[in-house]
Amino acid sequence: MRIDVLTLFPEACEPFFSASILQRAQAAGLVEIACTNIRDFARDVHRSVDDKPFGGGPGMVMACGPVFEAVEHVEAQGGGRATRILLTPQGKRFRQADAEELAGHDRLVLICGHYEGFDERIRQGLAPREISIGDYVLSGGEAAAMVVVDAVVRLLPGALGHEDSAGEDSFSNGLLEYPQYTRPREFRGMSVPEVLLSGDHASVAEWRRQQAIERTRRRRPDLLNDNVEECR
Ligand code: ADE
Repeated sequence: MRIDVLTLFPEACEPFFSASILQRAQAAGLVEIACTNIRDFARDVHRSVDDKPFGGGPGMVMACGPVFEAVEHVEAQGGGRATRILLTPQGKRFRQADAEELAGHDRLVLICGHYEGFDERIRQGLAPREISIGDYVLSGGEAAAMVVVDAVVRLLPGALGHEDSAGEDSFSNGLLEYPQYTRPREFRGMSVPEVLLSGDHASVAEWRRQQAIERTRRRRPDLLNDNVEECR
């Protein structure tokens, strides 16, 4: 898989992509992640990437030219047209199922905006998918792009140390994850539930399933309603 992140602030994203599981996945050849500065495609002497909105109003709007050229530039490096993604609070809310679907694509181009918004012709002409990571407004798409890249890359086969790890995550089965414990057995008067020490795998699995359902019911009943059939 190859992921290009188009941004005005590559220096904000690059350190994140160079650490931990993302770094390991790249070193193992599972994914190539490249950041490209949209400003490199500005044509005027001021290297501007934004302009005042037609019709007036506050703030600045990200202009078409540099964004189109940046997308065309990275797509011309091979692999043809990528799955294009615009990070915006107006997009579809990003969920685990979306990460799973995107993990099946060969080539992703993520476009991070800044300023008050994008010239609408970026949507019209590039026809990107639009993704929001939640109902709040960030000052740019970079943090959202990092979230999406992280959620996708950790799903690539071989990205996590243990092959089953992703399957046990919260959301992967529509439930929040069950409580986990490690040594010591007693810590400041708090003990590990007996069943986890029993060595009885079937009882452990059943306890975890019940805990996951109960925790989801209390914290995120909306998830349980979505998946009520699967949990039975
Ligand atoms: N850009 C600004 N806010 C955002 C959000 N919530 N999700 C994705 N991109 C954004």
